[in-house]
Amino acid sequence: MGIPVLTIDGPSGAGKGTVSRLVAKKLGWHYLDSGSIYRSLAIALQLASVDLADVPGIVNVAEAMALEFECGDELAVRLDGVDITPQLGLESTGVVASQVAALPDVRRVLLQKQQDFRKPPGLVADGRDMGTVVFPDAKNKVFLTASAAKRAERRYKQLIEKAIDANLIQIQKAIEERDRRDMERENAPLAMARDALYIDSSDMTIASVVEEILNLIH
Ligand code: C5P
Repeated sequence: MGIPVLTIDGPSGAGKGTVSRLVAKKLGWHYLDSGSIYRSLAIALQLASVDLADVPGIVNVAEAMALEFECGDELAVRLDGVDITPQLGLESTGVVASQVAALPDVRRVLLQKQQDFRKPPGLVADGRDMGTVVFPDAKNKVFLTASAAKRAERRYKQLIEKAIDANLIQIQKAIEERDRRDMERENAPLAMARDALYIDSSDMTIASVVEEILNLIH
């Protein structure tokens, strides 16, 4: 396992996606947005009309789904040949993703799909359990967070820019609820790896976060 991995874990909206993409680009490494795998499963379940109480049905869909990722300025994803990029970022997709992500059998099935991203010359992996469960042997680990208020504000701006109707207070509530679900679940909860560097991006620019992470690698 000589292929280097940099893991960037943290709650939703901390800027992991943007930062990870920039760092991967600078290093010339591959990029894994593990949240998009859980999100893709959420979309696959909706398309197949699988009830969220039907755990064996959910696991079947997770095993069968064929995902293709295209990493341009924005991540594009095809599920069984169909472009699902527009649905990927929806709040409703994130909510279902976080519900099914709490199922141990789902995490077991998706583990290998994530580890397959580890290819030369290296990988930047972004998620909740990259440093703790998926790539515990990664040499460089970061835990990137920000206050719930700051994360809500950023998410709100993103939605408004995309001309999607949004409510700041509701967003902050939803973020806090998702944090709770991700931190309190028994299986691979959102937690900082003991050997991770802690970065609070609340009052930092993206460029300075990127710089701090690149310093860690060099
Ligand atoms: O990061 P993102 O918001 O796209 O993730 C959506 C959901 O997928 C998270 O709320 C979390 O429950 C789940 N997830 C996870 N483990 C990861 C990445 C995402 O459980 N490594």
